[in-house]
Amino acid sequence: MTEQAGTSGGDATVSITACPNGPLLVRGRFEILAPAGEVIPSRRKTVALCRCGISTLKPFCDGSHKAVGFTTEPEAPTGQPA
Ligand code: FES
Repeated sequence: MTEQAGTSGGDATVSITACPNGPLLVRGRFEILAPAGEVIPSRRKTVALCRCGISTLKPFCDGSHKAVGFTTEPEAPTGQPA
């Protein structure tokens, strides 16, 4: 599954890929903000964001999802509600 959204102030596209049984891969030009609004630095154009909740490097994936056997739900058929 890939979701795309435009960035503000430019024509670059950010893509977000939900990896089966793993993180969300974010590619493009983006900023990640902490709850208080400060930018969480990232020097990479592609980052993996944790969606299993186990990472010790949140919001980034540290690979722990593999150790705990994190699984994602099967995707709903296209056009069907989950
Ligand atoms: S998705 Fe990788 S550690 Fe959570």
